[in-house]
Amino acid sequence: MNNSPLDTAIKAAKTAGNLLLEYQNSQRNIDIEEKNLNDLVTNYDTESEKIIISILKGDFPDFGIIAEEGGISKISPDKPYWIIDPIDGTSNFIHRFPIYCVSIGLCLGNDHLCGVIYNPALNELFYAQKEEGAYLNGNRIRVSGCLKLKEAMIATGFPFRSYDLLDRYMDCANKLLRNCHDIRRAGAAAVDLAYVACGRLDAYFEYGLQPWDAAAGAIILKEAGGTVTDFGGGNDYLFGRTLISSNTTIHEELLSIISNNLPHKYLSV
Ligand code: IPD
Ligand code: CA
Ligand code: CA
Repeated sequence: MNNSPLDTAIKAAKTAGNLLLEYQNSQRNIDIEEKNLNDLVTNYDTESEKIIISILKGDFPDFGIIAEEGGISKISPDKPYWIIDPIDGTSNFIHRFPIYCVSIGLCLGNDHLCGVIYNPALNELFYAQKEEGAYLNGNRIRVSGCLKLKEAMIATGFPFRSYDLLDRYMDCANKLLRNCHDIRRAGAAAVDLAYVACGRLDAYFEYGLQPWDAAAGAIILKEAGGTVTDFGGGNDYLFGRTLISSNTTIHEELLSIISNNLPHKYLSV
């Protein structure tokens, strides 16, 4: 019997995750290059991407691919396409700080079909398929029951690769901090989304994300009852490079502070 896309994505994420553990659990050296300011790539990113693409292509040779480290193949409007982050949280990975993951999403047009996020360091596998709920290590997950922003634990990522927006971002964080319980910056966007999905966080937002940061997390979050939008409250969070996610209940409150303080659209530099 053929594997489903979800089964194949899980196999790919676990195989790549095992490679990442070899580094995490050793004193091995790592090759690091800086693609752009603070944008690091290691030999493990490229090797992980190769492993993932070879497994996905083995089972679904016709599907398109968008992968962070360059593995891009043709996207046809009538065919599903994978969106791959071979290591989300590379800086954490380099430091053996155990918040990083492999992230694999599958889309058709703008529709999400399935998503897998695997953190090998903590052995946590998050996954979801459209209309079939979201799971962590086989157990169904749901977003938190937090009712008010004032009681929320929020995560974000700083604009650490381009400082144009830094002052405005920090002003916005200042306003938020006065209106929530606390803010976290854990360092892996896909893990942040998965944590909103399972209720460890109540919300997460970030400016400047790429599709591979968000593709898998967005469907996992939606299937867990969460909401994801762009900074203007619209649907352009996958390719539009601004994203707010939440347990749904506090979305409007959070959106109102962010949309009053930050640009609704990504400002290309
Ligand atoms: C990064 C991480 C980080 C986020 C950045 C992402 P990478 O991904 O998710 O938390 O703040 O925006 O680019 O480069 O480690 O795959
Ligand atoms: Ca990433
Ligand atoms: Ca990455």
